[in-house]
Amino acid sequence: MSTATTLTPTALAARVDNAVKVYGSGDTAVRALDGVSVGFRAGRFTAIMGPSGSGKSTLMHCAAGLDTLTEGAAYIGDTDLGSLDDRRLTLLRRDRVGFVFQAFNLVPTLNVAENITLPIDLAGERPDREWLDALIDVVGLRDRLHHRPAELSGGQQQRVAVARAFAGRPDVVFADEPTGNLDSRSGGEVLRLLGDAARQASRTVVMVTHDPVAAAHADEVVFLADGRLVDRMERPTADRVLDRMKAFDGTTSTSGGEPS
Ligand SMILES: Nc1ncnc2c1ncn2[C@@H]1O[C@H](COP(=O)(O)OP(=O)(O)OP(=O)(O)O)[C@@H](O)[C@H]1O
Ligand SMILES: [Mg+2]
Repeated sequence: MSTATTLTPTALAARVDNAVKVYGSGDTAVRALDGVSVGFRAGRFTAIMGPSGSGKSTLMHCAAGLDTLTEGAAYIGDTDLGSLDDRRLTLLRRDRVGFVFQAFNLVPTLNVAENITLPIDLAGERPDREWLDALIDVVGLRDRLHHRPAELSGGQQQRVAVARAFAGRPDVVFADEPTGNLDSRSGGEVLRLLGDAARQASRTVVMVTHDPVAAAHADEVVFLADGRLVDRMERPTADRVLDRMKAFDGTTSTSGGEPS
């Protein structure tokens, strides 16, 4: 066994090195990420926490290849996203990355089954029927497959979005506040899904959340503040996460959220 303290890149399903992201320029420039280095280990469920505006969504978007860094590098496995042209980046995102958006982003005119297989259909690939079948059972949507999103509850819609993110058997799934709009029961179901996917299906799951109870479902929590990584916590409990978050109070305003 190796006793090296640094993990080899292959043990990390996704990582960013010295990630800097600046939005805009001149007087209005915002340094959303200010030199973040963090790795997400394969087969683990990691939560990202931090005050509003601390750079959580920016980090996820850049790590997933949905946006580009201003400085530094982002890797999926050993692949440096900055080395890929648009076409290769699109292919990598399609084949290796899943994303769950806070706003679900389901297609209203497609039913549940069609929404789940949409990324695969767009890719012109053959779905892995066995995997999809298992996935549909895990998310508990078998009796809703022919419903449209408007005919589903918020929790059910989010479960469709989760199933869609996992449909193409990606290595890494990023989920931005997947339980933010859900009641605690639906939220709990989504969290168990994400945890099971990481541990049982050996996927890597990275989730942004504001909720210490949600974060406690993860194997590890990383904390961001002002665009920097400020802490990591293994085997979090809701109480320990809450204590850590209290340390942010005073340094940040929770009332200063951007209008949406
Ligand atoms: N497209 C953009 N143009 C300019 N500034 C942006 C843009 N997107 C984000 N920002 C700014 O970058 C900073 C980090 O934003 P980000 O969305 O990553 O925060 P967050 O931690 O996800 O916050 P929240 O918890 O409110 O979702 C914020 O100050 C935000 O205003
Ligand atoms: Mg955000």
